[in-house]
Amino acid sequence: MTDTRDYDALLHQVHQAVLPEIGRGTVANYIPELADVPPDQFGMAVVTLDGKVHTVGHAQTRFSIQSISKLFALVLAFQRQGDALWERVGREPSGTPFNSLVQLESESGKPRNPFINAGALVITDMLCTNFAVPENAVVEFARQLCDSKEIHYDRRVARSERGTSDRNAAMAHFMKNFGNLRNPVDQVLDAYCKHCAIEMSCVELARAVAFLANRGVNPWNGEQVLSASAAKRLSALMLTCGTYDAAGDFAFRVGLPAKSGVGGGIVALVPGECGVCVWSPALEHSGNSHAGLLALELFTTLSGRSIF
Ligand code: DON
Repeated sequence: MTDTRDYDALLHQVHQAVLPEIGRGTVANYIPELADVPPDQFGMAVVTLDGKVHTVGHAQTRFSIQSISKLFALVLAFQRQGDALWERVGREPSGTPFNSLVQLESESGKPRNPFINAGALVITDMLCTNFAVPENAVVEFARQLCDSKEIHYDRRVARSERGTSDRNAAMAHFMKNFGNLRNPVDQVLDAYCKHCAIEMSCVELARAVAFLANRGVNPWNGEQVLSASAAKRLSALMLTCGTYDAAGDFAFRVGLPAKSGVGGGIVALVPGECGVCVWSPALEHSGNSHAGLLALELFTTLSGRSIF
């Protein structure tokens, strides 16, 4: 194990090691528009809190961030609701797939955490209450966090998911029946599919999570996004719930707070030091990037950096 801050060399080493694994797994195909993304792509970026950017591979290519948007949506909702948010969404790992409905019935329509689909739908419902155009609020927030005006959501991907979102619709209706959704189901699903369809690159995402590594302060404009305590708590939630039913294995192998998406991106952070993002579209069975997981495991193993 080397303890090094030479991230360029480290990323090169990680890339070389995972080359044979890139493209192994399955690209998410339940969202038709994502099924055509070439699986043999890989990018990784590290952005340190002093603004230095280190990259390898397709780190500047924008991809569909999907569930990574749940992190931005959560922070936005938390800024407005504070701890009252936890009355409607829990903070326990679910141990079930990200799109599972089973726990909702026995748990009175209160999702286990804000990162599974059911939880993110409740969070999006809060955003529908707080913002006239909630997806634009998430886009604008992502822009501020990564200091780029160029972030948008892909309308085709949003439409494609919206056209096949029966499962998420089932969850939303079910939670509405329990009184845990305040706005019309269609409105919540529209906003949800749109913020999931935001496109960002590894560099932009690594920049965007840097505030969590920086005690809640956006390093690019000095703004306090969250209190240091809230940043610590949301980072803990990323560790325990950010990679779904693989979160235990992820903590075991990688040991960093992280959030994944079925577009193949995984963001992570090293507290006090940097934001990290890896992208490779082919997924393992839990819906996390196969090569991305391996790359992050190597990143913490070779650098000696993790939260443990
Ligand atoms: O709702 C969905 O299924 C997608 N918009 C997001 C799922 C996702 O990214 C899960 N991540 N691994």
